[in-house]
Amino acid sequence: MGASQQELLSLFPPGTVLDRDGTLVIAGCSVTDLAERFGTPALIVDEAALRGRARRYADGLAARWANSRVAFASKAFPCTAVYRLLAAEGLSIDVAGGGELALALAAGVDPATLVVHGNAKTDAELALAVQAGAGLIVIDNFDDIDRLEQLVTGDRRQSVLVRVTPGIRPDTHAAVSTGQEGSKFGLTLPQARKAIARLRASDVLRLDGVHVHIGSQILDTEPFVRAVEAVADLGTFDVYNVGGGLGARYTYGDTPPSVEEYLDALVDAARRGLPRGARIMIEPGRSLVAEAGVTLYRVATVKHGEPVFVAVDGGMGDNLEVALYGQRFEATVATRVGGGDPCHLVGRHCESGDLLSVDVPLRDPRPGDLIAVPVTGAYCYSLANNYNGALRPPVVFCRDGEARAVVRRETYDDLRRRDLP
Ligand SMILES: Cc1ncc(COP(=O)(O)O)c(C=O)c1O
Repeated sequence: MGASQQELLSLFPPGTVLDRDGTLVIAGCSVTDLAERFGTPALIVDEAALRGRARRYADGLAARWANSRVAFASKAFPCTAVYRLLAAEGLSIDVAGGGELALALAAGVDPATLVVHGNAKTDAELALAVQAGAGLIVIDNFDDIDRLEQLVTGDRRQSVLVRVTPGIRPDTHAAVSTGQEGSKFGLTLPQARKAIARLRASDVLRLDGVHVHIGSQILDTEPFVRAVEAVADLGTFDVYNVGGGLGARYTYGDTPPSVEEYLDALVDAARRGLPRGARIMIEPGRSLVAEAGVTLYRVATVKHGEPVFVAVDGGMGDNLEVALYGQRFEATVATRVGGGDPCHLVGRHCESGDLLSVDVPLRDPRPGDLIAVPVTGAYCYSLANNYNGALRPPVVFCRDGEARAVVRRETYDDLRRRDLP
């Protein structure tokens, strides 16, 4: 027997309800109307849910540690509307590389609030960051230091953090674990100590502090506490940026710590180990945006057999999380929510790995039905691709019954645009 309506609704943005016909209504917008107006697949974002989450993070951290900053790890959802919304909520912005930097600037983000990351930053990317006046550049390797020392000229000293790899392996998918020994990211603790000594002697770079990010989709507070302890051991700094990584609740059995439980654990560790006046920064991505997003698909065909395949008009072109990390997603027929028998919800792409959800209960799925997949606000937009000529879906912001596209659907002309005669 499939999940109950209440269980399913608990995975959708807060305030999602069913109308009298039993159809999902997200932020006051019926998904039937949304699909008619914007087509499918479409990534629907509940704007109030996104703002609410940003406030819980920013207010929650400030209440526990006054000198603090929340930076949105924009790789989780790098479109200008999201940058704009989260910057307007007072968040700083973390960018990985020149593309996200350019998008953030295009969205009007104050460069002083940018944190620039990357394990392989090019000269051009570093130059762009310095010229733009990026507030913090995170040193990931000694070549970053060499390059920045060449690039930074004039009176301004560029503020930097040193990223350390503390040897912590959180319980998450290997592809999104970054803090363990042997990680390609950051410097080991002994290397970090050398980088810190070198930066303290630099005339053009100003060492503001240290950075650690141990991975993503972490469902336990303990590894975060250990990460704070690891950076505390490196010495006294103005800034301790302890990264992102809190998990989202994708499925019924997931029990990630709440934002408040996570902040409690971090700040308790900070009170034990960090200097009182220091600034604490965090960089949530997934847990900030995942739960505000829902993807709508249209069923193209149902193949009855063992198993039953329900194939939709999207798939790994708009949600690569399943194929990349084996992330579990739930789903429902948007007009018949809850109950049903297990089906394999699959995409339209030419790969057997193009599975959106295995054994997901769907009630009487038929061609033409709308399928809603909740918790797609993180990394689905950013990892979207044109496999099999798929057109990347629009992003639709919904609020109080009003919907507006903030990213349009791609067209076949877009597919041709970069090809030269
Ligand atoms: C440096 C850094 N900070 C923050 C994040 C955000 O992580 P998450 O989306 O899991 O919160 C990432 C993601 O990989 C990252 O690389």
